[in-house]
Amino acid sequence: MPKLYELLSNNVKWSEQMTREDPEFFQRLVHAQSPEYLWIGCSDSRVPANEIVGLLPGEIFVHRNIANLVVHTDFNCMSVLEYSVEVLKVKHVLVVGHYGCGGVRAAISRTSFGLIDNWLYGIKNLYYRNKYRMDSFDNEEDRLNFLCELNVMQQVKNVAHTAVVQRAWERGQPLTIHGWIYSLKDGLAKDLGISIKGLDDLADEYRVVNGLKDG
Ligand code: CO
Repeated sequence: MPKLYELLSNNVKWSEQMTREDPEFFQRLVHAQSPEYLWIGCSDSRVPANEIVGLLPGEIFVHRNIANLVVHTDFNCMSVLEYSVEVLKVKHVLVVGHYGCGGVRAAISRTSFGLIDNWLYGIKNLYYRNKYRMDSFDNEEDRLNFLCELNVMQQVKNVAHTAVVQRAWERGQPLTIHGWIYSLKDGLAKDLGISIKGLDDLADEYRVVNGLKDG
């Protein structure tokens, strides 16, 4: 593990290398960013957004929190989403969970860890709502990993159920919400195949623009 002073020294080297490869790189970024992607991922240090998908500074807007949750009363996440969609006009929102997530594990551990209990409460509900399927796994790791996938699926819906996203679709802005899961074991992310790309993909009960489909 590098010492703190080494981080700044690493930073100098990185800046020099970037400038050597592309002398205009930083100058271009000073004026504007135009990322096409918003990454919503876990804070886990093993899941760094840019590195995993090989993107440079300026190419992906990032929001991370414990267990990659999208909670409608979280002003931080909602502000990031609104800014990404309405100002940056990102074309894709990537909700990226990961197997072996400590946040997901904590949520179903029947133990209190403090303030984080409140943050993770939604995952406990998700577990309980799917208890029958969860209990069909005969080992703890598979059960946890399945819940990690279910959690991503729920957060993708939570993104799609916001007024910000639905208003974007209503005005014809191209925007797709994707659910991915990352494996710490091999560094590979996979698409869970649950993308949502328009109002027609939503249950009527969750539509907040344009009234009900039939009415
Ligand atoms: Co995690």
